[in-house]
Amino acid sequence: MLKGNKMRILVIGSGGREHALVWKLKQSKMLDKIFCAPGNAGIALDADCIDIAATDLKGLLDFAIKEKIDFTIVGPEVPLVQGIVDLFEANGKRIFGPNQKAAELEGSKAFAKRFMEKYEIPTADFTIFTDFNKARQFVNNHQGPMVVKADGLAAGKGAIVCPDKEKAVSALEQIMGQKVFGEAGNKVVIEECMTGEEISIFSLTDGEHLVHMLPSQDHKRISNDDKGPNTGGMGAYTPTPQIEPRLFQNIIDTIVEPTVKGMALEGRPYRGLLYTGIMLTPQGPKVLEYNCRFGDPETQAVLMLAESDLLEAMVATVEGRLGEIRWTNSNKAAVCVVIASGGYPGKYEKDRPIIGLDYTFEPGTYVFHAGTKNVGGVFKTNGGRVLNVVSVDETIKSAIDKVYRGVRKITFDCATYRTDIAKKALNY
Ligand code: AMP
Ligand code: GLY
Repeated sequence: MLKGNKMRILVIGSGGREHALVWKLKQSKMLDKIFCAPGNAGIALDADCIDIAATDLKGLLDFAIKEKIDFTIVGPEVPLVQGIVDLFEANGKRIFGPNQKAAELEGSKAFAKRFMEKYEIPTADFTIFTDFNKARQFVNNHQGPMVVKADGLAAGKGAIVCPDKEKAVSALEQIMGQKVFGEAGNKVVIEECMTGEEISIFSLTDGEHLVHMLPSQDHKRISNDDKGPNTGGMGAYTPTPQIEPRLFQNIIDTIVEPTVKGMALEGRPYRGLLYTGIMLTPQGPKVLEYNCRFGDPETQAVLMLAESDLLEAMVATVEGRLGEIRWTNSNKAAVCVVIASGGYPGKYEKDRPIIGLDYTFEPGTYVFHAGTKNVGGVFKTNGGRVLNVVSVDETIKSAIDKVYRGVRKITFDCATYRTDIAKKALNY
């Protein structure tokens, strides 16, 4: 119906992921005008930002109706799990993302684990508990490392990797006792601890057809050599030389396709972007987690290499026509480095003026904003992860060199970043 028409688009979210999505969507031949809610200071250079929170579902719907938005794209998981897709569709508004029942793949780890068990999708062994004492007893009878996970959404912080049972009991106390993640901790999943490199796979699916983007790798820990606490992600790169074509096909055949088929069989057809987090274990690839949306910061790298029209593919996804889309990527490499506020992921300062954003970066280097604000024309820090610098080049090695030349042009008080992003890829 919308084919051939220029569209008014609304992107929901405010991070580096949404800035990269806006950047890519603006290249679409189908785009008329683009809005972002709430956006950030960098997104405001590329889209009309409107001050509506990503979780204000009613406010977003009212805006979409008033502004005659043709197509809405949801960045973060919270509104998806809250049912924004169901709300928009019930009001005749087109929206990209899984509905509430399908988003449960990310919204409940217990649901995702039982689903994988039922459809024989490889993942870590697990047990689910709703009773603290039973969970503690289980942990006390267990040797070696374990992973304790809050069932519900916890802003990416709900998985605690525990080297021994003492740490696991303390994780249970935090999650189930002190409720540090709130209601998300009413139930826990205790998992076998796996080892291996992590890979993120993004697939568009209309519930039947699939289109895969290039595999990427996130860097979750705050410090070099994967030391220190987990963060939202400190950098990413694509493609991943760890995954040769045969292994990629094996992951699609044994994990991603069975997931989409299984969700259809469950009466929860999945439509949108499926993010499958994989660990390459000595026993083969296994699922770490599903996310019901694009990853951050992987998107900032992955979309740089995507040649196809993302908006066209997203509309085809929503219309069940994804089989018509041929997705192509450039054969270059992309590396994204996150510049964060000192102290993150713990306490950090805000309102630090950012220097260097007016620099003319090399061709193939882009700066996507995350936690920034514009105060009277001055960009200031406004979050833990502040900026993403991304470079595209012929090889991972040359993209690494290029991205750090860009990173070094930007500074603010207490800025911090990892200096080893994508180095693992050079071992292959
Ligand atoms: P999740 O939120 O489930 O993706 O977990 C966050 C991070 O915790 C993952 O990216 C891994 O680094 C780590 N993790 C989660 N589950 C496991 C597991 N079963 N074994 C080892 N590490 C894990
Ligand atoms: N990069 C991890 C995530 O988006 O959940």
